[in-house]
Amino acid sequence: MEIEGKHAVITPEGVFIIGTYDENGIPNAMNAAWGMQSDMGEITLMLSKHKTTENFEKTGAFTVAFGTADTVLISDYFGVETGSKVNKIEKAGCHVHKSAHVNAPIIEEYPLTLECKVRSWNPETGYLIGEIVASQADESILTDGKVDLSKLRPIIFDPAAGAYRVVGEIVGKAFHDGLKLKQ
Ligand SMILES: Cc1cc2nc3c(=O)[nH]c(=O)nc-3n(C[C@H](O)[C@H](O)[C@H](O)COP(=O)(O)O)c2cc1C
Repeated sequence: MEIEGKHAVITPEGVFIIGTYDENGIPNAMNAAWGMQSDMGEITLMLSKHKTTENFEKTGAFTVAFGTADTVLISDYFGVETGSKVNKIEKAGCHVHKSAHVNAPIIEEYPLTLECKVRSWNPETGYLIGEIVASQADESILTDGKVDLSKLRPIIFDPAAGAYRVVGEIVGKAFHDGLKLKQ
């Protein structure tokens, strides 16, 4: 059976929380589902025009935090309200400090954050490419110094169900299980 292929059947979609400052240093955050790793140390996001895009056009920087099971409420809020009208960070009760590397806020409620410089931004296509210059992680989500997804509990956006799902159990070993068929 053929199904509607145009509308968001490409999964998983992430829950990327983009943090920016405006020209007065007021922090803002938005939720973006459309994004991916596009090179070593590079992230690409697809954005319409928002307060967020106005902000990084001026500062040349942004952060990307990962939505988690523990941050669902604030993550969704950052996608349904605009920083043009409301200080979302304050309303959500979040705490921020400035990244040591880029002119963008780190939202302390999120345990994992990328600090990015704008590498390129095309308002016509909506493609934002960021250079990841540093990353910050809470000790609580690390095992042997590496990000442990079972501790982070990142969420994905499920457009069909209109819901957030937590990333689940390990079901196979990458670059390994397929070797059985290669012999
Ligand atoms: C689950 C979800 C995913 C979203 N994904 C995107 C996206 O990928 N790109 C985009 O431009 N807007 C996306 N949005 C919409 C923005 O988050 C929303 O317009 C927000 O209000 C923009 O905030 P700002 O005006 O403070 O920058 C998404 C919203 C939600 C709830």
